[in-house]
Amino acid sequence: MAEAVVLPGPASEDLGRSVAEKLDLPLLAADFRIFPDGESKFTISDKVSGKNVFLVQSTHHPVDQHLFQLLLASHQLSEEGAKVTAVVPYLAYARQDKQFLPGESVTLGIVAHLMRSAGVRRMVTVDIHSAEGLALFSFPIYSVSAIPSLVEYVKEQVAPRAPVVISPDFGGSKRTEAFAALYGAPFLQLAKTRDRVSGEVTVAGSKLEVEGKDVLIVDDIISTGGTMRAAAETVMSQGARRAIAVCVHGLFMGNALDMLERASVKTVICTNTVPGKINQVDVSDAIASHLRTIEE
Ligand code: R5P
Repeated sequence: MAEAVVLPGPASEDLGRSVAEKLDLPLLAADFRIFPDGESKFTISDKVSGKNVFLVQSTHHPVDQHLFQLLLASHQLSEEGAKVTAVVPYLAYARQDKQFLPGESVTLGIVAHLMRSAGVRRMVTVDIHSAEGLALFSFPIYSVSAIPSLVEYVKEQVAPRAPVVISPDFGGSKRTEAFAALYGAPFLQLAKTRDRVSGEVTVAGSKLEVEGKDVLIVDDIISTGGTMRAAAETVMSQGARRAIAVCVHGLFMGNALDMLERASVKTVICTNTVPGKINQVDVSDAIASHLRTIEE
């Protein structure tokens, strides 16, 4: 790849370095600073004119700070003549991809607009929440799937007994169905609903074929853990042997992990799009190979 460099942002130091290693690309020298009052500043010390810069920055908590760092860096790199590809392993605001209630902002559309204004030419993310979200971007955006890597990990390291794969809701069912198909396991779907005002999650009761089985509950995001907990309680109350939570983006806000443990979730598996203690599946290969493809 000619004249390409990688800049790992503060939210994705390790993943950014790993992507650079996989692509055999140099790292860019830059400084991201946060002042005591919370202001951000970005300084680039290398020459970037004419180069492709892969700016790797997830946008997990603190969401707006990480997003703003990405915008600042992209803007300055573009000003100095670089062509910026934003690599955003976890794309925040992707769940706000439409108006659910009158008067709500379609925040993902605003994020898309800000990125474009800040000079982002194209973006690579991992398992965007919904395909509809892609349409809000007016520059090329690619969603790489971590599902094959998650399937491989679960098969080799967790090795559940004749598992059943479950999607907690309709929204994520395509992704979970793909997991089940790759795994070669039966797929079932729960009917989760979320109260759009209180945020409370409920799962409608229907009889599921889970008695004595290991159940893999597969979702894109675990944030508060409410969705996963409701799904785990449903399958355990119907006689499942084990509930195993699998997700791409593990945000694990507040006491999410304790809550899952209390809901009898035996194991939680997720990728490293969001750095943390639970990061069994590495997405750097999937990202690097996609970047290689779009460069070529
Ligand atoms: C929602 O549609 C998503 O796919 C996840 O199910 C949801 O965002 C998880 O959030 P929480 O862990 O807070 O229930």
